Amino acid sequence: MDLHLKGRSAIIMGGSQGLGLGIARALAREGVQTCLLARSEDRLRQTAQSLADETGTTPLWHRMDFSDPDSVRSCLETLRDIMPETDIIIGNGGGPPIGPATACDPDLWQKEAATMLLPVMQLVGQYLPGMRRRQFGRIIMVSSTSVVEPIPNLVLSSALRSALANWGKTLAREVARDGVTVNTLLPGRFETDRIVSLNRIRAEKAGIPLEEFRRQKENGVPAGRYGQPEELGNMAAFLASPLAAYITGTRIPVDGGLLHGF
Ligand SMILES: NC(=O)c1ccc[n+]([C@@H]2O[C@H](COP(=O)([O-])OP(=O)(O)OC[C@H]3O[C@@H](n4cnc5c(N)ncnc54)[C@H](OP(=O)(O)O)[C@@H]3O)[C@@H](O)[C@H]2O)c1
Repeated sequence: MDLHLKGRSAIIMGGSQGLGLGIARALAREGVQTCLLARSEDRLRQTAQSLADETGTTPLWHRMDFSDPDSVRSCLETLRDIMPETDIIIGNGGGPPIGPATACDPDLWQKEAATMLLPVMQLVGQYLPGMRRRQFGRIIMVSSTSVVEPIPNLVLSSALRSALANWGKTLAREVARDGVTVNTLLPGRFETDRIVSLNRIRAEKAGIPLEEFRRQKENGVPAGRYGQPEELGNMAAFLASPLAAYITGTRIPVDGGLLHGF
């Protein structure tokens, strides 16, 4: 299916690996000019090169640390020059640390809230006027199934992602008549570096070998396996396309059937 995305542009937060890279790859294959944001310059450079080799479209990239307001500010300034307009924003990044709801560290909550919420809001704020003027924009947040079924011992993730999803829902209604859609993806369990390191911590805590822990996790997914980042990328590419113009304000699970009641 031709998604009619050729010639469009996209900024992908956390686009250097994992789910962000899966989305960058799916968009680049459709002829989208991508711009990747993350912290590690080495990884950004390597990823941009491999995407260029693979798709024939060379991504732009820029260093941004979502947890550092100065870094966010200076990156936004640079983006104004190197990418004055964009059609698609992918709100994605690293997840917060694990932890229970019973232990509340106010400094940590403040830091994680600022990291998870503000950069995506600032980025959208910078590009939204142009999207509305041109009557085309796609804002897609990478969230988690934890928004609808909180995951034990991941309270920061579950709570702050709900805040972001509701910000997106509110925004969707405000811009629905301007050709701009806002949607939130709810990934289940995907094969990425973050999941491998979370699994290592959890397996150690449970006192079981990593491979056994992984098998248990896969068995808990009705599809019987982890998802591949490109499978989330395919859904993001469709939502980013003009074909998805009538889909906005939604939360879409991409989870191999993991969610029970949604
Ligand atoms: N994988 C899953 O199964 C799954 C399921 C549900 C939800 N999620 C959520 O989806 C998001 C992406 O997950 P993932 O598995 O793809 O993670 P990942 O493999 O760790 O990738 C995270 C990406 O974000 C960048 N990043 C991390 N912290 C950053 C920061 N402070 N500033 C700028 N860039 C930053 C990373 O690059 P640098 O390290 O170079 O900055 C990388 O490009 C996370 O929020 C995760 O919690 C994942």
